[in-house]
Amino acid sequence: MSDQKNPSTQQSAKPEKTAMVYEPTEYVRQGSWIDSMETYRDLYQQSVDNPEKFWAEQAERFLYWKEPWDKVLDWDFNDPHISWFAGGKTNVSYNCIDRHLKDGRRNKAALIWESDERRSKVYTYQALYTRVCRLANVLKSYGVGKGDVVAIYLPMVPELAFAMLACARIGAIHAIVFSGFSAQALRDRIQASGAKVLITADNGMRGGRLNPIKAQADEALLECPSIQKVIVVSRTQQQVDMEPGRDVYYHEEVARKDISRHCDIEWTEANDPLFILYTSGSTGKPKGIVHSTAGYLLQASMSSKYVFDLHDDDVYFCTADIGWVTGHSYIVYGPLAQGATSVMFEGVPTYPDAGRLWDIVERHGVNQFYTAPTAIRSLMRSGNEFPAAYDLSSLRVLGSVGEPINPAAWEWFYHEIGHDRCSVVDTWWQTETGAHMITNLPAATPMKPSSATLPFFGVQPIVMESEHKEAATGEDGRLCIKFPWPSMVRHLWDDPGNTRFKETYFSAFPGLYFSGDAAMVDEDGYYWLKGRVDDVINVSGHRIGTAEIEAALNSSPGVAESAVVGFPHEIKGEGIYAYIVMKHGAEADEDLEHRLAGVVRRNIGPIAKPDVVHVVNELPKTRSGKIMRRILRKIAAGITDKEQFGDLSTLVDEDVVDEIIETRPTK
Ligand code: PRX
Repeated sequence: MSDQKNPSTQQSAKPEKTAMVYEPTEYVRQGSWIDSMETYRDLYQQSVDNPEKFWAEQAERFLYWKEPWDKVLDWDFNDPHISWFAGGKTNVSYNCIDRHLKDGRRNKAALIWESDERRSKVYTYQALYTRVCRLANVLKSYGVGKGDVVAIYLPMVPELAFAMLACARIGAIHAIVFSGFSAQALRDRIQASGAKVLITADNGMRGGRLNPIKAQADEALLECPSIQKVIVVSRTQQQVDMEPGRDVYYHEEVARKDISRHCDIEWTEANDPLFILYTSGSTGKPKGIVHSTAGYLLQASMSSKYVFDLHDDDVYFCTADIGWVTGHSYIVYGPLAQGATSVMFEGVPTYPDAGRLWDIVERHGVNQFYTAPTAIRSLMRSGNEFPAAYDLSSLRVLGSVGEPINPAAWEWFYHEIGHDRCSVVDTWWQTETGAHMITNLPAATPMKPSSATLPFFGVQPIVMESEHKEAATGEDGRLCIKFPWPSMVRHLWDDPGNTRFKETYFSAFPGLYFSGDAAMVDEDGYYWLKGRVDDVINVSGHRIGTAEIEAALNSSPGVAESAVVGFPHEIKGEGIYAYIVMKHGAEADEDLEHRLAGVVRRNIGPIAKPDVVHVVNELPKTRSGKIMRRILRKIAAGITDKEQFGDLSTLVDEDVVDEIIETRPTK
């Protein structure tokens, strides 16, 4: 906990910046599932007074169970273990597909895929069933079964959703790696997960540009002996290297004569892992977050229904990439468990122009639109003429996720996109939480721009001032959760003895789950999120560990040492600022920045590229040898008045700080 960011120094939405409270409009309230604060409060109270009874009722209502559970909840946050619905048997693929074939939704659109080139393809629930079964049978034919890991490195093509559901159908565990990650990042994740099969593509298409995915995968696979088969989706029909015996084409495999259109369900226990998703932390390599079958699906499904006020006729559109948790829970699992129509978009918001998302909203008649503040800010900058040129009248609920939404972006979203009548739901959650945790309900909760508002059902947050003391109303503190929720991370993959799991989430505040975020609760009980307090940078809503970037930078010839911090960035939320110390005799020439960008791109991916490179003679260190990051963060944020740096007496050499201030790049 030492040298963590002081929440009050974070660039974040402060409640005093906006006194506005927006009530849900009659337009949103009409016919909504939860249309008043009384209903919300009543249900919330039930959910915390008797969580087991509440969640048991929801589990009956939201999921199909092949066999009932023996015990609703078993948990301990000190010696962490969490189990929901132990002994219950269900299957995620069955819940997302098969049951809709019998409930009148067989011919309903499950997925609408919108390609980069503006083509769309519609997959009904029946079509989804066939695709998923065929692929599941292909996987089975390679010997993939319950508990085996399948790595997926795909762009936003429909086969990505099919692959997830095919794994779930046979009890295999998927580990999706964002297609913007580099070969080395993919290699690390495959090695850590021990995957047997990789599903990838020839190329990706985004913004008119080709991403050579298979070439990256091939590079990664040079050091991944666990992979026995590689299934290649032919997205661009271009010739790529195929290794005989190992690599096969997706379209050929699913069309094999021995592959049936039906695939029996593997009934899985409620706590069996559904997927692993790697996410960045303060230290070391990314952590493999393991999500469960039943608890995860229950909360993803229930929050999809209530937070987006999803109805059967709605068309729902989330702009995330499935490589991140938002896409897992709110493009695929949550909406499909609800029997909804989910739009999956391959491209980028600015291609061919900044009207692209609004074009999708108009053409598909989107009712719920879920995106990230960074996208809102960048579209806002492109001008109001883009949204104004489209018919956005189908919209009812607008969602935000990934970082605190600043008031200006909130207001623009509300007025220019929602035309003052839609609700903006600001959803706070994390890869680890699996589903929404703090959010307004669109037809019930009065909105305060930039506040994620109130906890979702069953979620019991607490803001801590110190290890054992709760923060007072209006005071900044650390956001923790007191009680387990169904979609909670169960453990970390390959973490013997749960050591890292305990250390990361349950040690800073004994008996509580610690989120890594700073927060404040106001007099109305509303939560205001203030950003990360650990060494994680939130770049465009994506979590990147500073330790990972430093490891990449340090591997560059000539670099002796580095320190990476975040700084406020107009579009990305946070930018990446790298302090570099060169090795004795090595030169910081003009090409250095370019070389460093290259090494980060190769090790992690383009999203982790530093925005600022600042070469310094030394880093400010304490007598015990720790880098004083709080000073580096201030300087990166443009604060150069040493009076504002706090206590410097533990520094070995204060002159180092003056030198850094003097050499700060001004661009
Ligand atoms: O700092 C919080 C921020 O994103 C972090 C979680 O990142 P990740 O696991 O990648 O998941 C992102 C999508 C759920 C959190 O610790 N964050 C996410 N949503 C919000 C947010 N911060 C403020 N307000 C939000 N709505």
